[in-house]
Amino acid sequence: MNETILVLDFGGQYKELIARAVRGLRVYSEIRPGQLSVDEIKLINPIGIILTGGPNSVYLSGAPQCDPALLTLGIPILGICYGMQMMCHTLGGRVAPGSAGEYGRVPVTITSPSALFRDTKEPFTALMSHRDIVTHLPKGFAMTASTTNCIAACENTSKKLFGVQFHPETKHTQGGREIIRNFLFDVCHAAGDYVLGDYIETQITRIRQRVGDKKVLLALSGGVDSSVCANLLSKAIPGQLTCVFVDHGFMRRNEGDEIERVFSKRDLRFIRVNARERFLAKLKGVTDPETKRRLIGEEFVRVFEEESAKLGDIPFLAQGTIYPDVVESGGGGTHGAGGAVIKSHHNVGGLPEDRAFADVLEPLSGLFKDEVRILGEKLGLPAFLVNRQPFPGPGLAIRVMGEVTEEKLELLRRADAVLREELDGIRRRPNQYFAVLTDTRSVGVKGDDRTYDPVIAIRAVTTDDFMTCEYTPLSHKILCRIASRITSEIPNVSRVVYDITSKPPATVEWE
Ligand code: XMP
Repeated sequence: MNETILVLDFGGQYKELIARAVRGLRVYSEIRPGQLSVDEIKLINPIGIILTGGPNSVYLSGAPQCDPALLTLGIPILGICYGMQMMCHTLGGRVAPGSAGEYGRVPVTITSPSALFRDTKEPFTALMSHRDIVTHLPKGFAMTASTTNCIAACENTSKKLFGVQFHPETKHTQGGREIIRNFLFDVCHAAGDYVLGDYIETQITRIRQRVGDKKVLLALSGGVDSSVCANLLSKAIPGQLTCVFVDHGFMRRNEGDEIERVFSKRDLRFIRVNARERFLAKLKGVTDPETKRRLIGEEFVRVFEEESAKLGDIPFLAQGTIYPDVVESGGGGTHGAGGAVIKSHHNVGGLPEDRAFADVLEPLSGLFKDEVRILGEKLGLPAFLVNRQPFPGPGLAIRVMGEVTEEKLELLRRADAVLREELDGIRRRPNQYFAVLTDTRSVGVKGDDRTYDPVIAIRAVTTDDFMTCEYTPLSHKILCRIASRITSEIPNVSRVVYDITSKPPATVEWE
Protein backbone atom coordinates (compact mmCIF):
# COMPACT_ATOMS: atom_id res chain seq x y z
CA MET A 1 0.00 0.00 0.00
CA ASN A 2 1.26 3.43 -0.92
CA GLU A 3 0.81 6.33 1.45
CA THR A 4 -2.36 8.11 0.46
CA ILE A 5 -3.64 11.65 0.12
CA LEU A 6 -7.40 11.71 0.39
CA VAL A 7 -9.20 14.23 -1.79
CA LEU A 8 -12.63 14.86 -0.29
CA ASP A 9 -15.05 16.06 -2.93
CA PHE A 10 -17.54 18.83 -2.25
CA GLY A 11 -18.67 19.18 -5.85
CA GLY A 12 -15.71 21.09 -7.25
CA GLN A 13 -15.05 20.84 -10.93
CA TYR A 14 -11.31 20.46 -10.37
CA LYS A 15 -11.23 17.43 -8.09
CA GLU A 16 -9.57 15.30 -10.72
CA LEU A 17 -6.95 17.96 -11.36
CA ILE A 18 -6.14 17.95 -7.64
CA ALA A 19 -5.82 14.17 -7.44
CA ARG A 20 -3.79 14.11 -10.64
CA ALA A 21 -1.48 16.89 -9.45
CA VAL A 22 -0.79 14.90 -6.27
CA ARG A 23 0.00 11.73 -8.21
CA GLY A 24 2.23 13.74 -10.52
CA LEU A 25 4.32 14.45 -7.41
CA ARG A 26 4.58 10.69 -6.78
CA VAL A 27 2.08 10.55 -3.97
CA TYR A 28 -0.91 8.25 -4.37
CA SER A 29 -4.28 10.03 -4.18
CA GLU A 30 -7.90 8.98 -4.08
CA ILE A 31 -11.09 10.99 -4.50
CA ARG A 32 -13.93 10.22 -2.09
CA PRO A 33 -17.22 11.93 -1.25
CA GLY A 34 -16.88 14.91 1.09
CA GLN A 35 -19.18 13.41 3.72
CA LEU A 36 -17.04 10.32 4.25
CA SER A 37 -17.16 9.41 7.94
CA VAL A 38 -14.17 9.73 10.19
CA ASP A 39 -14.24 5.98 10.80
CA GLU A 40 -13.90 5.29 7.09
CA ILE A 41 -11.18 7.90 6.80
CA LYS A 42 -9.25 6.25 9.61
CA LEU A 43 -9.41 2.95 7.72
CA ILE A 44 -7.84 4.61 4.68
CA ASN A 45 -5.24 6.13 7.01
CA PRO A 46 -4.25 9.07 4.78
CA ILE A 47 -1.12 11.09 5.41
CA GLY A 48 -3.03 14.23 4.43
CA ILE A 49 -6.43 15.40 3.24
CA ILE A 50 -7.42 17.95 0.62
CA LEU A 51 -10.92 19.43 0.74
CA THR A 52 -12.04 20.46 -2.75
CA GLY A 53 -13.94 23.51 -3.88
CA GLY A 54 -17.64 23.38 -4.64
CA PRO A 55 -20.53 25.50 -5.89
CA ASN A 56 -22.33 25.94 -2.55
CA SER A 57 -22.36 28.57 0.19
CA VAL A 58 -21.37 27.08 3.55
CA TYR A 59 -23.79 29.25 5.53
CA LEU A 60 -26.87 27.99 3.65
CA SER A 61 -28.77 25.03 5.02
CA GLY A 62 -28.06 21.80 3.20
CA ALA A 63 -24.57 22.90 2.11
CA PRO A 64 -22.24 19.88 2.15
CA GLN A 65 -20.11 19.55 5.27
CA CYS A 66 -17.29 17.27 6.24
CA ASP A 67 -17.48 15.27 9.44
CA PRO A 68 -16.43 18.02 11.95
CA ALA A 69 -14.35 15.45 13.86
CA LEU A 70 -12.12 15.31 10.81
CA LEU A 71 -10.66 18.70 11.71
CA THR A 72 -9.44 17.45 15.08
CA LEU A 73 -7.73 14.22 14.01
CA GLY A 74 -4.31 15.81 13.66
CA ILE A 75 -4.10 14.75 9.99
CA PRO A 76 -2.82 17.68 7.88
CA ILE A 77 -5.64 19.26 5.88
CA LEU A 78 -5.58 21.67 2.96
CA GLY A 79 -8.93 23.29 2.17
CA ILE A 80 -9.25 24.74 -1.32
CA CYS A 81 -11.86 27.46 -2.03
CA TYR A 82 -15.12 26.03 -0.63
CA GLY A 83 -12.90 23.63 1.34
CA MET A 84 -11.20 26.57 3.10
CA GLN A 85 -14.54 28.32 3.72
CA MET A 86 -16.09 25.17 5.16
CA MET A 87 -13.10 24.57 7.43
CA CYS A 88 -13.24 28.16 8.74
CA HIS A 89 -17.03 28.12 9.11
CA THR A 90 -17.00 24.80 10.99
CA LEU A 91 -14.31 26.02 13.40
CA GLY A 92 -16.13 29.24 14.33
CA GLY A 93 -14.95 31.67 11.64
CA ARG A 94 -17.32 33.64 9.41
CA VAL A 95 -18.04 33.31 5.73
CA ALA A 96 -20.19 35.81 3.82
CA PRO A 97 -20.82 36.91 0.25
CA GLY A 98 -18.03 39.24 -0.92
CA SER A 99 -18.86 42.68 -2.27
CA ALA A 100 -17.69 41.48 -5.66
CA GLY A 101 -16.79 37.99 -6.76
CA GLU A 102 -13.31 37.17 -8.00
CA TYR A 103 -13.15 35.13 -11.19
CA GLY A 104 -10.05 34.46 -13.24
CA ARG A 105 -6.40 35.28 -12.57
CA VAL A 106 -6.03 37.59 -9.57
CA PRO A 107 -2.81 38.99 -8.01
CA VAL A 108 -2.08 37.52 -4.58
CA THR A 109 0.26 38.96 -1.96
CA ILE A 110 1.90 36.80 0.68
CA THR A 111 1.34 38.52 4.02
CA SER A 112 3.32 36.26 6.34
CA PRO A 113 5.68 33.29 5.91
CA SER A 114 4.03 29.91 5.42
CA ALA A 115 5.27 26.42 4.69
CA LEU A 116 2.85 26.41 1.76
CA PHE A 117 4.61 29.34 0.13
CA ARG A 118 8.20 28.15 0.41
CA ASP A 119 9.86 29.12 -2.89
CA THR A 120 6.72 30.90 -4.13
CA LYS A 121 7.61 34.03 -6.05
CA GLU A 122 5.45 36.96 -5.06
CA PRO A 123 3.24 38.61 -5.87
CA PHE A 124 1.83 35.79 -7.95
CA THR A 125 -1.41 35.43 -9.85
CA ALA A 126 -3.81 32.71 -8.89
CA LEU A 127 -7.01 31.36 -10.35
CA MET A 128 -9.95 32.53 -8.28
CA SER A 129 -13.54 31.48 -8.77
CA HIS A 130 -15.66 32.57 -5.81
CA ARG A 131 -18.25 34.98 -4.55
CA ASP A 132 -18.14 34.05 -0.85
CA ILE A 133 -15.18 35.05 1.27
CA VAL A 134 -13.89 34.26 4.75
CA THR A 135 -14.49 37.48 6.68
CA HIS A 136 -13.36 36.31 10.16
CA LEU A 137 -10.83 33.58 10.77
CA PRO A 138 -11.42 30.98 13.47
CA LYS A 139 -9.42 31.23 16.68
CA GLY A 140 -5.82 30.05 16.25
CA PHE A 141 -5.77 30.83 12.51
CA ALA A 142 -3.58 33.46 10.84
CA MET A 143 -3.86 35.00 7.39
CA THR A 144 -0.86 34.19 5.20
CA ALA A 145 -1.93 35.72 1.87
CA SER A 146 -4.50 38.17 0.57
CA THR A 147 -5.93 39.83 -2.51
CA THR A 148 -7.59 43.23 -2.59
CA ASN A 149 -10.88 41.43 -1.93
CA CYS A 150 -10.27 38.46 0.28
CA ILE A 151 -8.18 36.39 2.63
CA ALA A 152 -6.38 34.30 0.01
CA ALA A 153 -4.72 31.86 2.43
CA CYS A 154 -4.80 31.04 6.12
CA GLU A 155 -3.47 28.44 8.51
CA ASN A 156 -3.36 27.04 11.99
CA THR A 157 0.03 25.39 12.02
CA SER A 158 -0.29 23.74 15.42
CA LYS A 159 -3.42 21.91 14.19
CA LYS A 160 -1.90 21.40 10.71
CA LEU A 161 -4.88 23.07 9.04
CA PHE A 162 -4.31 25.12 5.88
CA GLY A 163 -6.64 26.92 3.51
CA VAL A 164 -6.32 28.65 0.16
CA GLN A 165 -9.12 30.59 -1.48
CA PHE A 166 -7.58 30.09 -4.93
CA HIS A 167 -7.00 26.96 -6.99
CA PRO A 168 -3.36 25.79 -6.87
CA GLU A 169 -4.30 22.68 -8.87
CA THR A 170 -4.82 24.58 -12.14
CA LYS A 171 -2.13 25.76 -14.50
CA HIS A 172 -3.57 29.25 -14.21
CA THR A 173 -2.10 29.64 -10.71
CA GLN A 174 1.58 30.58 -10.84
CA GLY A 175 3.59 28.22 -8.67
CA GLY A 176 0.45 26.17 -7.88
CA ARG A 177 2.26 22.87 -8.28
CA GLU A 178 4.90 24.02 -5.77
CA ILE A 179 2.21 24.95 -3.25
CA ILE A 180 0.78 21.43 -3.49
CA ARG A 181 4.30 19.98 -3.32
CA ASN A 182 4.99 21.99 -0.16
CA PHE A 183 1.80 20.68 1.41
CA LEU A 184 2.69 17.08 0.53
CA PHE A 185 6.33 17.08 1.47
CA ASP A 186 6.78 19.83 4.08
CA VAL A 187 3.47 19.49 5.88
CA CYS A 188 2.43 15.86 5.35
CA HIS A 189 6.05 14.59 5.12
CA ALA A 190 5.23 12.37 2.16
CA ALA A 191 7.89 9.96 0.97
CA GLY A 192 6.85 10.15 -2.69
CA ASP A 193 6.69 6.39 -3.12
CA TYR A 194 4.02 6.13 -5.81
CA VAL A 195 5.54 4.70 -8.98
CA LEU A 196 3.36 3.82 -11.93
CA GLY A 197 5.61 0.95 -13.00
CA ASP A 198 4.45 -1.05 -9.97
CA TYR A 199 0.89 -0.88 -11.28
CA ILE A 200 1.58 -3.37 -14.07
CA GLU A 201 3.00 -6.03 -11.75
CA THR A 202 0.28 -5.56 -9.15
CA GLN A 203 -2.49 -5.77 -11.73
CA ILE A 204 -1.01 -8.80 -13.46
CA THR A 205 -0.96 -10.67 -10.15
CA ARG A 206 -4.52 -9.59 -9.31
CA ILE A 207 -5.88 -10.49 -12.75
CA ARG A 208 -4.28 -13.94 -12.57
CA GLN A 209 -5.71 -14.55 -9.13
CA ARG A 210 -9.23 -13.53 -10.15
CA VAL A 211 -9.41 -15.13 -13.56
CA GLY A 212 -7.56 -18.39 -12.94
CA ASP A 213 -7.83 -20.41 -16.15
CA LYS A 214 -11.16 -18.91 -17.28
CA LYS A 215 -11.76 -16.85 -20.42
CA VAL A 216 -12.15 -13.08 -20.79
CA LEU A 217 -13.92 -11.02 -23.45
CA LEU A 218 -13.04 -7.42 -24.29
CA ALA A 219 -14.82 -4.99 -26.62
CA LEU A 220 -11.88 -3.32 -28.31
CA SER A 221 -12.50 0.06 -29.90
CA GLY A 222 -8.89 0.85 -30.72
CA GLY A 223 -9.02 3.83 -28.35
CA VAL A 224 -6.28 4.28 -25.77
CA ASP A 225 -8.12 2.78 -22.81
CA SER A 226 -9.36 -0.43 -24.38
CA SER A 227 -6.06 -0.92 -26.22
CA VAL A 228 -3.99 -0.61 -23.04
CA CYS A 229 -6.47 -2.83 -21.23
CA ALA A 230 -6.10 -5.49 -23.96
CA ASN A 231 -2.35 -5.36 -23.70
CA LEU A 232 -2.28 -5.63 -19.94
CA LEU A 233 -4.66 -8.60 -20.02
CA SER A 234 -2.72 -10.34 -22.75
CA LYS A 235 0.39 -10.07 -20.57
CA ALA A 236 -1.42 -11.40 -17.53
CA ILE A 237 -3.43 -14.21 -19.05
CA PRO A 238 -1.97 -14.99 -22.47
CA GLY A 239 -4.22 -17.18 -24.53
CA GLN A 240 -7.33 -16.60 -22.43
CA LEU A 241 -8.36 -13.23 -23.89
CA THR A 242 -10.66 -12.64 -26.86
CA CYS A 243 -10.96 -9.10 -28.22
CA VAL A 244 -13.91 -8.21 -30.39
CA PHE A 245 -13.36 -5.17 -32.59
CA VAL A 246 -16.61 -4.09 -34.19
CA ASP A 247 -15.64 -2.26 -37.37
CA HIS A 248 -18.61 -0.03 -38.10
CA GLY A 249 -16.98 1.42 -41.19
CA PHE A 250 -16.74 4.92 -39.73
CA MET A 251 -13.04 4.74 -38.94
CA ARG A 252 -10.49 6.99 -40.57
CA ARG A 253 -8.31 5.86 -43.46
CA ASN A 254 -6.45 2.60 -42.68
CA GLU A 255 -7.41 2.80 -39.01
CA GLY A 256 -9.26 -0.52 -38.80
CA ASP A 257 -6.38 -2.29 -40.58
CA GLU A 258 -3.83 -0.72 -38.23
CA ILE A 259 -5.76 -1.87 -35.17
CA GLU A 260 -6.00 -5.35 -36.65
CA ARG A 261 -2.28 -5.38 -37.48
CA VAL A 262 -1.29 -4.42 -33.92
CA PHE A 263 -3.62 -6.78 -32.11
CA SER A 264 -3.28 -9.79 -34.39
CA LYS A 265 0.34 -9.97 -33.28
CA ARG A 266 -0.46 -10.01 -29.56
CA ASP A 267 -1.05 -13.06 -27.47
CA LEU A 268 -4.81 -12.94 -27.70
CA ARG A 269 -7.64 -13.94 -29.97
CA PHE A 270 -8.62 -10.97 -32.12
CA ILE A 271 -11.93 -10.90 -33.95
CA ARG A 272 -12.69 -8.08 -36.36
CA VAL A 273 -16.34 -7.97 -37.19
CA ASN A 274 -16.93 -6.27 -40.49
CA ALA A 275 -20.28 -4.61 -39.90
CA ARG A 276 -19.98 -1.72 -42.34
CA GLU A 277 -22.98 -2.56 -44.41
CA ARG A 278 -25.38 -3.07 -41.58
CA PHE A 279 -24.35 0.21 -39.93
CA LEU A 280 -24.79 2.10 -43.21
CA ALA A 281 -28.14 0.45 -43.75
CA LYS A 282 -29.23 1.54 -40.26
CA LEU A 283 -28.32 5.15 -41.03
CA LYS A 284 -30.02 5.31 -44.42
CA GLY A 285 -32.09 8.47 -44.63
CA VAL A 286 -31.17 9.57 -41.08
CA THR A 287 -29.97 13.16 -40.69
CA ASP A 288 -30.53 14.06 -37.03
CA PRO A 289 -27.21 13.91 -35.07
CA GLU A 290 -28.63 12.43 -31.87
CA THR A 291 -30.59 9.80 -33.81
CA LYS A 292 -27.40 8.86 -35.64
CA ARG A 293 -25.53 8.48 -32.36
CA ARG A 294 -28.31 6.43 -30.81
CA LEU A 295 -28.69 4.09 -33.79
CA ILE A 296 -24.95 3.49 -33.97
CA GLY A 297 -24.82 2.77 -30.24
CA GLU A 298 -27.70 0.32 -30.46
CA GLU A 299 -26.29 -1.43 -33.49
CA PHE A 300 -22.93 -1.75 -31.79
CA VAL A 301 -24.54 -3.49 -28.85
CA ARG A 302 -26.40 -5.85 -31.15
CA VAL A 303 -23.26 -6.83 -33.08
CA PHE A 304 -21.27 -7.28 -29.90
CA GLU A 305 -23.98 -9.45 -28.35
CA GLU A 306 -24.17 -11.63 -31.43
CA GLU A 307 -20.43 -12.14 -31.43
CA SER A 308 -20.22 -12.92 -27.74
CA ALA A 309 -23.12 -15.40 -28.10
CA LYS A 310 -21.17 -17.16 -30.87
CA LEU A 311 -18.19 -17.44 -28.57
CA GLY A 312 -20.20 -19.35 -25.99
CA ASP A 313 -19.99 -18.92 -22.29
CA ILE A 314 -17.20 -16.46 -21.45
CA PRO A 315 -17.48 -15.60 -17.78
CA PHE A 316 -15.48 -12.37 -17.63
CA LEU A 317 -16.11 -9.10 -19.44
CA ALA A 318 -13.15 -6.71 -19.41
CA GLN A 319 -13.55 -2.97 -19.81
CA GLY A 320 -11.13 -0.10 -20.18
CA THR A 321 -12.84 1.92 -17.44
CA ILE A 322 -10.46 4.56 -16.08
CA TYR A 323 -10.46 6.48 -12.81
CA PRO A 324 -12.40 9.55 -14.01
CA ASP A 325 -15.18 7.18 -15.21
CA VAL A 326 -15.32 5.68 -11.71
CA VAL A 327 -15.35 9.07 -10.01
CA GLU A 328 -18.00 10.47 -12.35
CA SER A 329 -20.28 7.52 -11.68
CA GLY A 330 -20.09 8.18 -7.94
CA GLY A 331 -17.61 5.58 -6.81
CA GLY A 332 -18.32 2.99 -9.50
CA GLY A 333 -17.36 -0.64 -9.67
CA THR A 334 -20.74 -1.67 -8.28
CA HIS A 335 -21.83 -5.20 -8.92
CA GLY A 336 -25.49 -6.16 -8.90
CA ALA A 337 -26.70 -9.34 -7.27
CA GLY A 338 -27.77 -10.99 -10.50
CA GLY A 339 -24.56 -10.32 -12.40
CA ALA A 340 -22.28 -7.41 -12.94
CA VAL A 341 -23.65 -4.02 -13.83
CA ILE A 342 -21.85 -2.94 -16.92
CA LYS A 343 -20.61 0.58 -17.37
CA SER A 344 -22.17 2.29 -20.32
CA HIS A 345 -19.61 2.22 -23.07
CA HIS A 346 -19.07 5.92 -23.55
CA ASN A 347 -17.44 5.28 -26.88
CA VAL A 348 -20.45 3.82 -28.51
CA GLY A 349 -23.44 4.58 -26.36
CA GLY A 350 -23.99 1.68 -24.03
CA LEU A 351 -23.32 -2.02 -23.70
CA PRO A 352 -26.35 -3.98 -22.53
CA GLU A 353 -27.03 -3.36 -18.85
CA ASP A 354 -28.47 -6.79 -18.23
CA ARG A 355 -25.88 -9.03 -19.78
CA ALA A 356 -25.11 -11.89 -17.53
CA PHE A 357 -21.36 -11.94 -17.35
CA ALA A 358 -20.29 -13.49 -14.10
CA ASP A 359 -17.78 -10.77 -13.47
CA VAL A 360 -16.27 -7.59 -14.83
CA LEU A 361 -12.56 -6.80 -14.95
CA GLU A 362 -11.53 -3.16 -14.94
CA PRO A 363 -7.76 -3.22 -14.49
CA LEU A 364 -7.27 0.46 -15.36
CA SER A 365 -9.92 1.79 -13.00
CA GLY A 366 -7.30 3.36 -10.72
CA LEU A 367 -5.61 5.45 -13.40
CA PHE A 368 -5.98 8.84 -15.02
CA LYS A 369 -5.83 9.15 -18.79
CA ASP A 370 -2.24 10.34 -18.93
CA GLU A 371 -1.23 7.52 -16.59
CA VAL A 372 -2.94 5.07 -18.96
CA ARG A 373 -0.86 6.50 -21.80
CA ILE A 374 2.36 6.06 -19.79
CA LEU A 375 1.33 2.50 -18.96
CA GLY A 376 0.63 1.87 -22.65
CA GLU A 377 4.17 2.98 -23.50
CA LYS A 378 5.61 0.74 -20.80
CA LEU A 379 3.59 -2.17 -22.20
CA GLY A 380 5.09 -1.57 -25.65
CA LEU A 381 2.03 -0.30 -27.50
CA PRO A 382 2.89 1.69 -30.63
CA ALA A 383 2.91 5.48 -30.29
CA PHE A 384 0.03 5.98 -32.73
CA LEU A 385 -2.25 4.07 -30.36
CA VAL A 386 -0.90 5.45 -27.10
CA ASN A 387 -1.08 9.06 -28.25
CA ARG A 388 -4.28 8.67 -30.17
CA GLN A 389 -6.47 11.76 -30.10
CA PRO A 390 -9.97 11.26 -28.77
CA PHE A 391 -12.12 9.80 -31.52
CA PRO A 392 -15.86 9.67 -31.00
CA GLY A 393 -17.43 6.21 -30.85
CA PRO A 394 -19.76 6.98 -33.78
CA GLY A 395 -16.63 7.97 -35.73
CA LEU A 396 -16.83 9.75 -39.05
CA ALA A 397 -20.60 9.28 -39.10
CA ILE A 398 -20.91 12.40 -36.93
CA ARG A 399 -18.33 14.27 -39.01
CA VAL A 400 -20.40 13.80 -42.15
CA MET A 401 -23.20 16.31 -41.70
CA GLY A 402 -26.62 14.97 -42.52
CA GLU A 403 -27.19 11.58 -44.12
CA VAL A 404 -24.17 9.28 -44.19
CA THR A 405 -23.27 7.46 -47.39
CA GLU A 406 -20.19 5.49 -48.34
CA GLU A 407 -19.38 8.07 -50.99
CA LYS A 408 -19.39 10.92 -48.46
CA LEU A 409 -17.39 8.87 -45.99
CA GLU A 410 -14.73 8.20 -48.58
CA LEU A 411 -14.51 11.86 -49.48
CA LEU A 412 -14.11 12.77 -45.82
CA ARG A 413 -11.50 10.04 -45.26
CA ARG A 414 -9.40 11.51 -48.04
CA ALA A 415 -9.67 15.07 -46.74
CA ASP A 416 -8.96 13.94 -43.19
CA ALA A 417 -5.90 11.99 -44.34
CA VAL A 418 -4.50 15.12 -45.99
CA LEU A 419 -5.12 17.17 -42.86
CA ARG A 420 -3.39 14.59 -40.70
CA GLU A 421 -0.42 14.31 -43.04
CA GLU A 422 0.05 18.06 -42.80
CA LEU A 423 -0.41 18.40 -39.04
CA ASP A 424 0.93 15.15 -37.55
CA GLY A 425 4.53 16.27 -37.79
CA ILE A 426 4.32 19.96 -36.91
CA ARG A 427 5.83 21.50 -33.82
CA ARG A 428 3.14 22.49 -31.29
CA ARG A 429 0.57 20.18 -32.72
CA PRO A 430 -3.02 21.03 -31.78
CA ASN A 431 -4.45 18.57 -29.24
CA GLN A 432 -7.14 17.41 -31.62
CA TYR A 433 -7.75 18.00 -35.32
CA PHE A 434 -9.99 16.58 -37.96
CA ALA A 435 -11.95 17.36 -41.11
CA VAL A 436 -15.71 17.67 -41.35
CA LEU A 437 -17.80 17.18 -44.46
CA THR A 438 -20.42 19.92 -44.27
CA ASP A 439 -23.76 19.57 -45.97
CA THR A 440 -23.20 22.82 -47.84
CA ARG A 441 -22.21 22.93 -51.49
CA SER A 442 -20.60 25.94 -53.09
CA VAL A 443 -19.68 27.13 -56.53
CA GLY A 444 -16.10 26.76 -57.67
CA VAL A 445 -14.08 26.73 -60.83
CA LYS A 446 -11.76 23.96 -61.89
CA GLY A 447 -10.04 24.32 -65.25
CA ASP A 448 -12.63 26.04 -67.37
CA ASP A 449 -15.54 24.37 -65.64
CA ARG A 450 -17.92 25.72 -63.09
CA THR A 451 -18.33 23.29 -60.18
CA TYR A 452 -20.91 23.00 -57.44
CA ASP A 453 -19.40 20.74 -54.82
CA PRO A 454 -19.26 20.14 -51.05
CA VAL A 455 -17.37 22.29 -48.55
CA ILE A 456 -14.87 20.73 -46.15
CA ALA A 457 -14.36 22.32 -42.74
CA ILE A 458 -11.18 21.96 -40.72
CA ARG A 459 -11.25 21.80 -36.94
CA ALA A 460 -8.10 22.10 -34.79
CA VAL A 461 -8.30 22.74 -31.07
CA THR A 462 -6.07 23.33 -28.09
CA THR A 463 -7.21 21.79 -24.83
CA ASP A 464 -6.00 20.02 -21.71
CA ASP A 465 -9.19 18.35 -20.72
CA PHE A 466 -11.20 17.95 -23.94
CA MET A 467 -14.17 19.39 -22.07
CA THR A 468 -13.49 22.98 -23.08
CA CYS A 469 -11.20 24.16 -25.86
CA GLU A 470 -9.80 27.09 -27.76
CA TYR A 471 -9.50 26.93 -31.53
CA THR A 472 -5.83 26.60 -32.52
CA PRO A 473 -4.60 29.58 -34.55
CA LEU A 474 -2.82 27.53 -37.23
CA SER A 475 -0.56 29.58 -39.46
CA HIS A 476 -1.99 30.82 -42.74
CA LYS A 477 0.85 29.05 -44.53
CA ILE A 478 -0.24 25.67 -43.17
CA LEU A 479 -3.92 26.40 -43.73
CA CYS A 480 -3.25 27.47 -47.27
CA ARG A 481 -1.31 24.27 -48.00
CA ILE A 482 -4.07 22.11 -46.53
CA ALA A 483 -6.77 23.92 -48.55
CA SER A 484 -4.76 23.71 -51.72
CA ARG A 485 -4.02 20.01 -51.29
CA ILE A 486 -7.59 19.06 -50.40
CA THR A 487 -9.11 20.94 -53.35
CA SER A 488 -6.57 19.66 -55.83
CA GLU A 489 -6.25 16.05 -54.63
CA ILE A 490 -9.96 15.48 -54.12
CA PRO A 491 -11.78 16.42 -57.29
CA ASN A 492 -15.22 17.05 -55.86
CA VAL A 493 -14.43 19.48 -53.04
CA SER A 494 -15.13 23.09 -53.92
CA ARG A 495 -13.62 24.87 -50.94
CA VAL A 496 -12.13 24.52 -47.48
CA VAL A 497 -13.15 26.62 -44.47
CA TYR A 498 -11.54 26.89 -41.04
CA ASP A 499 -13.62 26.65 -37.88
CA ILE A 500 -12.38 29.32 -35.44
CA THR A 501 -14.96 28.77 -32.71
CA SER A 502 -14.00 27.82 -29.17
CA LYS A 503 -15.94 25.59 -26.79
CA PRO A 504 -18.15 26.96 -25.35
CA PRO A 505 -20.16 28.09 -27.23
CA ALA A 506 -19.44 25.48 -29.92
CA THR A 507 -18.63 21.85 -29.19
CA VAL A 508 -15.51 20.13 -30.47
CA GLU A 509 -17.43 17.83 -32.79
CA TRP A 510 -19.90 19.31 -35.24
CA GLU A 511 -22.66 16.82 -34.43
P1 XMP B 1 -17.71 17.65 -27.77
O1 XMP B 1 -18.09 17.53 -29.21
O2 XMP B 1 -18.74 17.10 -26.84
O3 XMP B 1 -16.43 16.71 -27.60
O4 XMP B 1 -17.26 19.03 -27.40
C1 XMP B 1 -15.56 16.71 -26.49
C2 XMP B 1 -14.54 15.61 -26.70
O5 XMP B 1 -15.18 14.34 -26.67
C3 XMP B 1 -15.01 13.66 -27.90
N1 XMP B 1 -16.29 13.01 -28.20
C4 XMP B 1 -16.55 11.72 -27.96
N2 XMP B 1 -15.79 10.76 -27.43
N3 XMP B 1 -17.57 9.22 -27.71
C5 XMP B 1 -16.30 9.51 -27.31
O6 XMP B 1 -15.61 8.62 -26.83
C6 XMP B 1 -18.41 10.14 -28.25
O7 XMP B 1 -19.54 9.86 -28.60
C7 XMP B 1 -17.85 11.47 -28.37
N4 XMP B 1 -18.37 12.64 -28.84
C8 XMP B 1 -17.39 13.57 -28.70
C9 XMP B 1 -14.63 14.73 -28.91
O8 XMP B 1 -13.89 14.20 -30.00
C10 XMP B 1 -13.84 15.69 -28.05
O9 XMP B 1 -12.52 15.25 -27.86
